Amino acid sequence: MPDLTASLAGIRSPNPFWLASAPPTNSGYQVMKAFDAGWGGAVWKTMGIPVINSSSRYGAIPYKGHRMMGFNNIELISDRPLADNLREMEAVKKRFPDQALVASLMVQSRQEWHQIAKDAENAGADGLELNFGCPHGMCERGMGSAVGQEPAILQLITSWVKEVATVPVIVKLTPNVTDITEPAVAAARGGADAISLINTIQSLMGVDIDHFVAYPVVDGRSTNGGYCGPAVKPIAQNMVRNCAQHPGVRLPISAIGGIETWRDAVEYLLLGASNVQICTAVMHYGFGIIRELTTGLEDYMRRKGFQQLDDFIGKALPNIVTWEQLNLRYEVKARIDPNKCIQCQLCYTACEDGAHQAIGLPASGHRTPYIIEENCVGCNLCSLVCPVEGCITMVRTDDGAVCETWNDYVTTGKAPDSFNDTRAGGLSHRVTPWESYVEKNVKT
Ligand SMILES: Cc1cc2nc3c(=O)[nH]c(=O)nc-3n(C[C@H](O)[C@H](O)[C@H](O)COP(=O)(O)O)c2cc1C
Ligand code: SF4
Ligand code: SF4
Repeated sequence: MPDLTASLAGIRSPNPFWLASAPPTNSGYQVMKAFDAGWGGAVWKTMGIPVINSSSRYGAIPYKGHRMMGFNNIELISDRPLADNLREMEAVKKRFPDQALVASLMVQSRQEWHQIAKDAENAGADGLELNFGCPHGMCERGMGSAVGQEPAILQLITSWVKEVATVPVIVKLTPNVTDITEPAVAAARGGADAISLINTIQSLMGVDIDHFVAYPVVDGRSTNGGYCGPAVKPIAQNMVRNCAQHPGVRLPISAIGGIETWRDAVEYLLLGASNVQICTAVMHYGFGIIRELTTGLEDYMRRKGFQQLDDFIGKALPNIVTWEQLNLRYEVKARIDPNKCIQCQLCYTACEDGAHQAIGLPASGHRTPYIIEENCVGCNLCSLVCPVEGCITMVRTDDGAVCETWNDYVTTGKAPDSFNDTRAGGLSHRVTPWESYVEKNVKT
């Protein structure tokens, strides 16, 4: 049986699934319930000087039947007295010594950081997560993403906490920056033991076009909030791999952003994360999703012959390179399976108007489209729009004998370097019936 035990900078948990710091970790009641259900760890709702929250505070974007495809909040940190949070943390830790219990913290002065770090440790925290990520409300007060966006300040505050901390310190990064590796490197320089990412992305959730106010509405007004949920996963994954590959970071990573299923989690582990944290999916479906997460991960590991998480953490990283290292001689073309095709012609329209006019429609008889091989550049668009699983596949058509990258093209003098260079890739794209279209439609 595969071993799901995870370790983030020495913080061990029976599985890699932690609740992210958010409403599901607001109280001892919730965290105990989650641990009873099988969660491996929890990062407590961020503690500091308790806040006053607005009502309402969430917004969401549904997409084609999926509620909360993107989720947004304007909630601040914990609105509960610190003493209540600490007392409940202590009770949770006593009942669940094997689960990871991490305190998320956000205060301002060096003295406050020292005090709250010690308080959290005394309450039994296995680690401290510094919230340098919240992009609404707290940043206007000089905390949260205001710190995460200033590497020098982030580094300084991390080093303050490290002056007193005896448990691992995790720096939680904001994605609201141009280059995520800058604050990640600063965290490493400040002495962080790990990083976690991403916190939420600054956002507006649409506008009420009858009352002229953005969502969520608070008495006729709104404000920017933090975006999360399935929609942010691609952005978060790129940031995680950027940090994992950066030689100046070299810190264990706790990955966060849009995780709903075991597969999402495996993807993040393959990108170099040591564990994952989940918020929106738990707010949507409850603590019970842990069953699918752990059994799915176990099945995957069994299928792949992995005994422990370390067998595959980071396994996708060597295959993620810069664009100029890709093989430009690799070639795929679309194939339509006529037995699966329902003749909806979505592929035809997409390729005709949005790609390379490489799909034709028979003039009469059946309406199953066909591929015009010489025009197909293998962009994947038709296979992405086709509603029938497996109906359009991308098939390799080069023989694999030659690998040439952009770097090779530059070195060997094959790279186009003038505006009308005939060595350019689009030169072969010749079958567009441009002349006949002009003849029919353009009056001269
Ligand atoms: C309503 C809400 C409140 C949140 N509060 C906190 C918080 O107090 N501290 C924190 O570090 N992150 C907070 N987050 C961010 C989450 O911990 C997490 O980083 C983010 O939601 C991305 O994960 P997800 O896509 O699984 O939701 C909050 C998120 C939501 C939706
Ligand atoms: S892969 Fe791209 S170019 Fe080829 S048929 Fe599909 S949409 Fe057209
Ligand atoms: S999108 Fe798929 S199902 Fe629809 S016509 Fe094209 S191949 Fe057939």
